Amino acid sequence: MAKLLTSAQMREADRRTIEELGLPGVVLMENAGAQVVKVLKQRLPDWRKVPILVLAGHGNNGGDGFVIARRLLQSGARVSVFLFGQCDRLQGDALTHFQVFEGCGGLVREVGIATDLQRFDQLLSHAGVVVDAVFGTGLTRPVEGVALQLFDKINRAAKPLLAVDMPSGVSADTGQILGIALQAQWTVTFAAEKIGHRTYPGAALCGEVIRVDIGIPARYLDIPEHGIARNLPDDLQVPQRHPDSHKGSFGHLLIWAGSLGKEGAAVLTALGALRTGPGLVTVATPANARAALLGQLTEAMSLPLPEDAEGVAVASALLESGIAADALAIGPGLGRGAALTEAILTLLSRWDLPAVLDADALNAVAAAGHRLAGISRGRQSPLILTPHPGEFSRLLSGAISAAAVQSDRLGYALQLAHDWQVWLVLKGAGTVIAAPDGRAWINETGHHGLAAGGSGDLLTGIIAGLLTQGWPVESALRAGVWMHGAAADAEGVGAGLLASDLLPHLRRLRRQWG
Ligand SMILES: NC(=O)c1ccc[n+]([C@@H]2O[C@H](COP(=O)([O-])OP(=O)(O)OC[C@H]3O[C@@H](n4cnc5c(N)ncnc54)[C@H](OP(=O)(O)O)[C@@H]3O)[C@@H](O)[C@H]2O)c1
Repeated sequence: MAKLLTSAQMREADRRTIEELGLPGVVLMENAGAQVVKVLKQRLPDWRKVPILVLAGHGNNGGDGFVIARRLLQSGARVSVFLFGQCDRLQGDALTHFQVFEGCGGLVREVGIATDLQRFDQLLSHAGVVVDAVFGTGLTRPVEGVALQLFDKINRAAKPLLAVDMPSGVSADTGQILGIALQAQWTVTFAAEKIGHRTYPGAALCGEVIRVDIGIPARYLDIPEHGIARNLPDDLQVPQRHPDSHKGSFGHLLIWAGSLGKEGAAVLTALGALRTGPGLVTVATPANARAALLGQLTEAMSLPLPEDAEGVAVASALLESGIAADALAIGPGLGRGAALTEAILTLLSRWDLPAVLDADALNAVAAAGHRLAGISRGRQSPLILTPHPGEFSRLLSGAISAAAVQSDRLGYALQLAHDWQVWLVLKGAGTVIAAPDGRAWINETGHHGLAAGGSGDLLTGIIAGLLTQGWPVESALRAGVWMHGAAADAEGVGAGLLASDLLPHLRRLRRQWG
């Protein structure tokens, strides 16, 4: 299932399974524990030979932990269990499974007791694997106190760690790390993936995410009004390319990019677009940058722009060019100048075309957010902003730092998309595509090799190229972001990736849609 649920939605699905279907919670917990043990044995074939340390919390996640510990014990494993809290606070299904575990000869130690803490250090150092069943999706506040100290110790011990449902400390709803979180090698999640599994920074702590069935019916997990999903390219609405097409069938993209010394940005934007199949591409660039550009771009046309006093091309030349564009891409390598803001806002008001703003175009409109939002609301065509976290921070006039944006990527992207009524692509690991109506997709392709100059220019071109061909905005953004990352994956993970290395892969990936 591509949808990513919140903890409240998951609790509701649990409740309906228990109350409407009549499957008792204690059985769901047994199923959950059994599935985790199955995965653990698959992933760790020598599980019998290594000491296993199970960490449990007070709530239902801890209850799953007691089932796991009991089943491992009964299979002949060497298991130690630590409770992050007091045994006399346990209740409900977790208490039942605690009692069953003890009834089977299991021992639960409390981390609040000094002698047990010393034992904790010993057992941690000998453990072959750690099972984290402390908070799961039940985390409601930052981790503090003894848990904070022990989580840090556990992470430093760097043992293979299997997280039950969600690494403790990661918010299931936002992917934020609340205080500190455990680093998992595997996360076994129940029934459906949660937002935190795919949203950074938390996603980086999940390791391999393995979804298992515990008896919750699919109909309780299908929440039509909920719009947060993984960005998988399998359900996109895409226009057909007919055999009797000509170049006029696939639209004309106008790119306004480049400046003296930043010609490459314009070239990469154009090449990214051309690899997606628009009929025509014209690159408008200042006259003094055009010569460098021409040598590298054979298939695109160019439009020399006059320069104003600051070396920035003016909008009137574009408006008077007579180009019947179908989409606009504005920003890569434009440089900075006071005249840019007015020029971009004028273009967006006068040309109601799908438009992608990136890089210097984002910097130019940063101080004019309210006006941009007003223009966007008055347009029929989608307006797309593609910031990285630093540009995102600047769009908000620095009121939110790039680090803060990174701590809640999904939340901030959804907020700005709603407030400005734009489509937002917040770039970075797990690129977030946020729609003005509250839907969002979290991308999974790509790697750190993309964090280099030129990569974003290429993405702008890819998205704009698809829009030019009449792709619906959702499809253009989702396919564009997915392809950009998948092309990087095809080149292999690691540094030294050139944006231009992606170009041959883009054509291959694009062909799945005709
Ligand atoms: N039937 C089942 O098998 C079943 C059903 C539902 C859930 N689950 C499992 O339980 C997990 C969460 O379930 P839930 O939503 O029902 O929540 P819950 O486990 O009932 O409640 C969350 C628990 O975590 C504690 N907690 C949260 N944040 C904490 C923090 N920062 N420091 C210390 N304690 C903290 C809470 O303590 P306070 O009470 O002090 O706030 C509470 O004990 C799931 O991930 C899943 O693994 C299993």
